[in-house]
Amino acid sequence: MWGGRFAEGPSAIMREINASIPFDKILWREDIRASKAHVAMLGAQGIVSADDAATITAGLDQIAGEYERDGVPEDWDLEDIHMTVEARLTEIIGPVAGRLHTARSRNDQVATDFRLWVRTANGRAIAGLNALRAALVERAGEHADTIMPGFTHLQTAQPVTLGHHLLAYFEMLGRDVARFEAAQERLDQCPLGSAALAGTGFPIDRDATAHALGFAEPTRNSLDAVSDRDFALDYLMATSQCAIHLSRLAEELILWASQPFGFASLPDSLSTGSSIMPQKRNPDAAELVRGHSGRIIGACTSLMITMKGLPLAYSKDMQDDKPPVFEAAGLFDLSVAAMIGMIAQTTFKSDRMRAAAQAGHATATDLADWLVREADIPFREAHHITGEAVKLADTKHCSLEELALADLQAIDARIDDSVYRALSIEASVASRRSYGGTAPDQVKQRVNEAMDVLNAAAERDQ
Ligand code: ARG
Repeated sequence: MWGGRFAEGPSAIMREINASIPFDKILWREDIRASKAHVAMLGAQGIVSADDAATITAGLDQIAGEYERDGVPEDWDLEDIHMTVEARLTEIIGPVAGRLHTARSRNDQVATDFRLWVRTANGRAIAGLNALRAALVERAGEHADTIMPGFTHLQTAQPVTLGHHLLAYFEMLGRDVARFEAAQERLDQCPLGSAALAGTGFPIDRDATAHALGFAEPTRNSLDAVSDRDFALDYLMATSQCAIHLSRLAEELILWASQPFGFASLPDSLSTGSSIMPQKRNPDAAELVRGHSGRIIGACTSLMITMKGLPLAYSKDMQDDKPPVFEAAGLFDLSVAAMIGMIAQTTFKSDRMRAAAQAGHATATDLADWLVREADIPFREAHHITGEAVKLADTKHCSLEELALADLQAIDARIDDSVYRALSIEASVASRRSYGGTAPDQVKQRVNEAMDVLNAAAERDQ
């Protein structure tokens, strides 16, 4: 299609290095959709005749049917999906096919196709994450009162509720959804009609093609439109950030499902066995969510580095924008789906969580706070007294709650038996009623609000 000025055809190596059809054929629906919008506009503007426009449209519909049925043929000589479609169109309708490429270039064509594809991927990410958030909220509601150890440095710190812990991820994923939504808003301009780089002399109607393809408006600068891939990077950055969150959640599920923790049992359907150790139940799905996050972040890094040195406008390097996006999208969608299953179906072992919270002197801060509140002791001194109590409990192999009043009073005479009300893990979590705190009544309020947020989002998306 571009051989006119050449005496010789490309070498085998040239053909191979140039071909993007092996990976960009995934764009065939977007390519045909954009071509149909383009030719409809050319017809409406009288740039091609109404008859030719109708012939081209019918040919494109036939190709869509063929690809739907048989897949897209891969011919390296045709380089990419754009030329593959055009070559097939020529076979079907003859030379009139050549009119389709009036007032456009593969540069605005690929930018448009890819935007359409990324727009769908953003939508899928938002829907998947909202389903995952719904699963988290549901489990958080079930476990608003379930007590587990809260950790810092992975050391038992203070008791928290499992509902509160799960809602932490609800918050993270809510910010991730907002990132995909912001990406979607920025992407909402159509490059079609920017042509190779400078626009076109034909009297095209860019608003018409933009609206036909569901964009808010056309892009305002043709050089920018054909040469930036920030919309793809927005998607990759949002998936990378979200993959970091999913990876942390996966890591926690892996820890919780380990025998020493014993906090959770992952569903059979998302675990695997070992071919040598019959007792094993491996959390492979969670491990792969954690693992895939590395590849997703790698995809984002790859495209950032591809883009950073390119002069305006289009350079062929930009053909390499697609594999990282397609790979990351596949891994991301799968990770979200796996995580929905794990959150919905994991059995949480409330008794083990409670015992672990009980065992780690998790209420030591509550004792110190009690000394401050009830005995008017400065916090630093209260901290020291509590440290002594912890040491004693360790020597006696018991919990703080199990220490006799006489033992506590031997450490500090100002302690009386009302201290025991502060030392139970139930009292500890119930007391943390500050907004956003772990108290069960706080968690229940947040669960209700979260359900409202999700219902509002579902209504918006109707
Ligand atoms: N396959 C190419 C890509 O994905 C299409 C654009 C080709 N443009 C060009 N000027 N050679 O980037």
